[in-house]
Amino acid sequence: MPSTAPVGLGSPTVTTEIRTATRDDAESYLRCVGTAFLEPEPDDTAWATYWLDTMRPDLDRAWGAFDGRQVVGTLRSLPFELTVPGGRTVPADGVTMVTVAATHRRRGLLTRMMAEDLAAAAGRGDTASILLASEWRIYGRYGYAPATEGAEWEIDRRAALCPPPAGRLEAVTVRELRPLAPAVYDRARLRRAGGLTRPAPRWDRDLGLTHPTGEKPEWVGRVVLHRDAAGEPDGYLRWHSGWGDDPRIELTVDELVAATDEAWVDLWRFALAVDLVTHVRAAGRPVDEAVPWLLGDGRAARQTRRGDQMWLRLLDVPAALTARSYGGSGRVVLEVLDPAGYAAGRFALDASPDGATCVPTAEGADVTLPVTTLGSAYLGGHRLGQLARAGLADEHRPGALRVADRLLATDEAPHTTLHF
Ligand SMILES: CC(C)(COP(=O)(O)OP(=O)(O)OC[C@H]1O[C@@H](n2cnc3c(N)ncnc32)[C@H](O)[C@@H]1OP(=O)(O)O)[C@@H](O)C(=O)NCCC(=O)NCCS
Repeated sequence: MPSTAPVGLGSPTVTTEIRTATRDDAESYLRCVGTAFLEPEPDDTAWATYWLDTMRPDLDRAWGAFDGRQVVGTLRSLPFELTVPGGRTVPADGVTMVTVAATHRRRGLLTRMMAEDLAAAAGRGDTASILLASEWRIYGRYGYAPATEGAEWEIDRRAALCPPPAGRLEAVTVRELRPLAPAVYDRARLRRAGGLTRPAPRWDRDLGLTHPTGEKPEWVGRVVLHRDAAGEPDGYLRWHSGWGDDPRIELTVDELVAATDEAWVDLWRFALAVDLVTHVRAAGRPVDEAVPWLLGDGRAARQTRRGDQMWLRLLDVPAALTARSYGGSGRVVLEVLDPAGYAAGRFALDASPDGATCVPTAEGADVTLPVTTLGSAYLGGHRLGQLARAGLADEHRPGALRVADRLLATDEAPHTTLHF
């Protein structure tokens, strides 16, 4: 439901309206986004048209704060399927393009746009809302918390002593890869919790086949395809490099997607086999990726960065907890605190490797925790015990946190496959 309210204290008579954008608002909408993200001013409307087209058919999810005709705040959401532990998916509301003009900041506009989007997401039946946060402090107040982490690897190629790839690798053009990549990606995203569908318009953009301004594509590089023994594509690598005066020559892994372990090994080995290159760098990778174990000398690989990646806000606790799998068996009563109401309640989780039930209960709680804490633990990326030590969960029955942690733990760290 769109809302109109006076802007906060100190602002004379201006009234801002929160509503979804129309095509007529495109230029102003995109200017607000571009300015907040410190992008150069576009010199024509091609950029706005491009972005609008990538929004379709979801303009009804492009929230804006309007000061008269001028867009002074933006928040757009996209539909995603989110992979949960065990390989099933849940519908997730992916929040992006969150900005408020510096002229209108700290007057509650983000809070109002967020309230509209979360209400719409809950109304649609989305299990969770997800986003990537530019700053840690923005989104906790809305119930989001870090749920997956990403790592950057740097590998000294000459010290790595990596054997060459053994499988079927094929240097293809980007245009040859384009029709094959979505099926490979869709298999790969289901292999690890945190995986996301890739919106169709993103393929051409991410492969550098379309570009907003008619100038340089957003990505320029090379691709290599991996096939299984039957000849089916099961992995691909996008990479780029450059050769200049610097004796250090870096190869950047822009995307390494593997639907099988064989493809994963061969694509990494390929990246490490390119001659002239001295160092290989790969960002946004899983934190527990087994890269050092591929090398003759594991010390040649260093994790140079590690940090929060996808933030998650649970909207429907029973749907979320019954969708995922569990490694062990146990029962625990969780009291979830959520001032916005969506996830609030006391739930009995009864889980085993065969499945789980999660139902509202009037029994006493074993553990009380805010929705943010459960969001951090949901995909297996963080332990409740660790969060409790920081004061972010309370145990009422001795051992209950251990039981809950053993249930929620996953073999692999969750990882988000897409930057959105
Ligand atoms: C993040 C952003 C949209 C927040 O806009 P805003 O106008 O401050 O939003 P609101 O007024 O609704 O803020 C709500 C609350 O969050 C707080 N808050 C907002 N941004 C914050 C930040 N970066 N750090 C700490 N607190 C923040 C506000 O102080 C306010 O607190 P209060 O309710 O206690 O008064 C805006 O600062 C912005 O456009 N930043 C640059 C682009 C960006 O980083 N976007 C996020 C992309 S993930």
